[in-house]
Amino acid sequence: MRKIGVVGIGHVGVTVAHIIIAQGLADELVLVDKKPEKLASEELDFRDAASLLDHHVNVHTGTIKDLADADVIISALGHIDLIKPGGDRFTELKANTPEVQQVGSDLKNAGFNGVLIVISNPVDVITGIYQKATGLPTNQVFGTGTYLDTARLKRALGDTLAIDPRGINGYMLGEHGDSQFAAWSTVSALGKNITELVKLYNIDLNHVAEAARVGGFTVFAGKKYTNFAIAHAAVSLAKLVLSDAHREAIVSHYDNQFKGYISTPAVIGRDGITAEFDLQLTDEEQALLQKSADAIAEKTKAYL
Ligand code: 2OP
Repeated sequence: MRKIGVVGIGHVGVTVAHIIIAQGLADELVLVDKKPEKLASEELDFRDAASLLDHHVNVHTGTIKDLADADVIISALGHIDLIKPGGDRFTELKANTPEVQQVGSDLKNAGFNGVLIVISNPVDVITGIYQKATGLPTNQVFGTGTYLDTARLKRALGDTLAIDPRGINGYMLGEHGDSQFAAWSTVSALGKNITELVKLYNIDLNHVAEAARVGGFTVFAGKKYTNFAIAHAAVSLAKLVLSDAHREAIVSHYDNQFKGYISTPAVIGRDGITAEFDLQLTDEEQALLQKSADAIAEKTKAYL
């Protein structure tokens, strides 16, 4: 029995739930939110949708106690209404923290011992708060981090190269926020490294990296939230857990080098983070990663 819980049924949470139902990724899907009327309407809508599917999903609302035996929980709690155009995801920190601490403590009291995937922003800090509040081992709590920004980097580079972004390798590292950076030394496509690609295609790397870095705010500017890409990011990570994929992914996890949560590559399996591996970054990239870790720490103090 694959059981998933989604906590926070706003734009992102409801999209996460829809993808899970449409793809049949869970046998049981539990929706948790503090707005009972919203919950009831989403449950009924999803149950009507589920009656039209070829596969069965038992989708229902519940409380944190109902998530005690969940395999995976996805946290989509947030206050996106606090974000200003071109603002910072840290704007949500003060409002999200008490709710996250409460949910984390309730999960601990309920005896949850699955994997918690965090979307809630600022995701690097919120993931650390969840890990402390749940008392779960660090490997069982990770955030989407720059998994989505890496997808945005591939989309932006794919546009430049006129190729499917899924054929591009490489990472956006660091904060899921302003201090993230494209680790160009890790990027390759068409069997070529980035140096060869720049020569062949005359690419403006700064333009590509910036298009990725502000991708979330570009979407936000038009519709005042983002939901589809971030929801697919979280669900694809949940699939890696449920299938015990042992596949590499760039997620916000506890990094022993920085003694905090930041996005560097890890291997995802049944128990969450099953392994980490070192990247052969250039000195400049290593310095940017340290700078990003420092930025997360400084902004945490400033915004809390
Ligand atoms: C994004 O960048 C929600 O922070 C997430 O879309």
